[in-house]
Amino acid sequence: MQIFITGAGGFIGGSLACGLARDGHRVVGLVRRPEQVGELAALGIEAVLGELDQRDLLIAQAQAADAVINAADSDHRGAVEALLDGLAGSGKTFLHTSGSSIVGDASGGEGSTAVYHEDALPEPTPDKAARVAIDRLVLQAAKRGVRSAVLCNTLIYGHGLGLPRDSVQLPRLVRQARRSGVVRHVGRGLNVWSTVHIEDVLDAYRLALRHTPPGTFYFIENGEAAFRDMSAAIARALGLGEAQDWPLEQAVAEWGYEMANYGLGSNSRVRGERARRLLGWAPKHASVLDWIATEPG
Ligand SMILES: NC(=O)c1ccc[n+]([C@@H]2O[C@H](COP(=O)([O-])OP(=O)(O)OC[C@H]3O[C@@H](n4cnc5c(N)ncnc54)[C@H](OP(=O)(O)O)[C@@H]3O)[C@@H](O)[C@H]2O)c1
Repeated sequence: MQIFITGAGGFIGGSLACGLARDGHRVVGLVRRPEQVGELAALGIEAVLGELDQRDLLIAQAQAADAVINAADSDHRGAVEALLDGLAGSGKTFLHTSGSSIVGDASGGEGSTAVYHEDALPEPTPDKAARVAIDRLVLQAAKRGVRSAVLCNTLIYGHGLGLPRDSVQLPRLVRQARRSGVVRHVGRGLNVWSTVHIEDVLDAYRLALRHTPPGTFYFIENGEAAFRDMSAAIARALGLGEAQDWPLEQAVAEWGYEMANYGLGSNSRVRGERARRLLGWAPKHASVLDWIATEPG
């Protein structure tokens, strides 16, 4: 297949691009940094230089491809509209990358017993309404002749298979810890996130490309952990003292509103039943805490 992937120079998109190129697909990847064109060529990926705002470019690339994966930005509505317009009526596959902060509760590091399932998604908070609206647009495209699916990823750990090595959540805790000598979590760190390893994410996309029914929403998860336990594991792995609680305001000053409230300070507990049932997904990596213990940093 010829597969067009946005965000091919990023953590998720780069991992997907490399994995699918290794599988023998022709992968065309959108990047916005000129230096990444040559870097991706060395990995067997054909890079197209451009921005998500370039509607005509996205439409043309979508039409030239057999399948499209959007992995640059879960919140860029214009790009999704362009890609879907390019694919409408074609019956081709469109996989959109979303993130499970859509069920985040911005609890400031407090815990929660709420666990969400794919067939009973809650109404989003105002902060997450725009992301959820994009997910719904993708699912509705099944009625416009697109084999569309939303892969809603949880906290992804593991090293990227493409250009960047780091994911977005745990590496922020590690960088802060390396700089200050103290690992810190938001509030009391009792908040829990579902997790998944990047290699298992790649497998889920591989399977969805082949088998997804149109208009399907998937949570991609295989286990969960409290931030308190993840920060303790990081402290041990880095040889630092006990991880410490951090008031939300200070966490916001370090990591910004979105990351402190949602990425690191909320609960996002979900169960991914559909990838297992509909796609036969069988993730291999079950424990983020084991990974932190063996792969510090
Ligand atoms: N990693 C996770 O655990 C996770 C889980 C669930 C959902 N997500 C979501 O999935 C998306 C991708 O995540 P990621 O971890 O792969 O992030 P990432 O490593 O930052 O990769 C995103 C890539 O897309 C590119 N990009 C972003 N905006 C663009 C634009 N307007 N035009 C062209 N290229 C653009 C970036 O280019 P530059 O490098 O030039 O900025 C980068 O190469 C994000 O929206 C993220 O919130 C991530």
